[in-house]
Amino acid sequence: MLEDRLIVRKIKDGTVIDHIPAGRAFDVLKILGIKGKEDVTVALVMNVESKKLGKKDIVKIEKRFLKREEVDKIALVAPTATINIIKDYQVVEKRDVQIPDEIVGLLKCINPLCISNAREPVTPRLKVESKQPLKLRCVYCDEVFGEEALEQLVSK
Ligand code: CTP
Ligand code: ZN
Repeated sequence: MLEDRLIVRKIKDGTVIDHIPAGRAFDVLKILGIKGKEDVTVALVMNVESKKLGKKDIVKIEKRFLKREEVDKIALVAPTATINIIKDYQVVEKRDVQIPDEIVGLLKCINPLCISNAREPVTPRLKVESKQPLKLRCVYCDEVFGEEALEQLVSK
């Protein structure tokens, strides 16, 4: 697509997270721990036209390649996102993100009394009952919850 090329130039090496639902770019930055004071070049494109989404955001990060866990978290807040890996100006890999059928260790159960929130080291496991709208069920206590759990990822 042409529109963002008019706004920010292409990057040489790094990651372009494209097709982020409009308004979610800051959430993606929070997941990646980018606060704006690090020594990395980041370009944010917000609220541009997209054929698929109407409006979208784009995040471009130079010299950074994402970990699996980071991509899985991005899938939760931006399920339409595309991860483009750029090497020497070329898109060498393009991947859609995917919400898994079970979320292990990325999100806590919202029930404070749940065994997975007790002191013992129990890795939280959430079954994904619906992706759109998001509906999660804790494997341990059966608590059912949705988008509100994503606050954990974006409010730190
Ligand atoms: N991009 C970039 N720097 C590069 C190459 C690509 O910033 N050196 C950006 C493009 O501007 C675009 C995204 O990475 O936002 C994906 O690039 P490309 O696959 O060329 O664009 P499209 O074909 O429009 O992608 P899609 O089909 O996923 O919409
Ligand atoms: Zn629970």
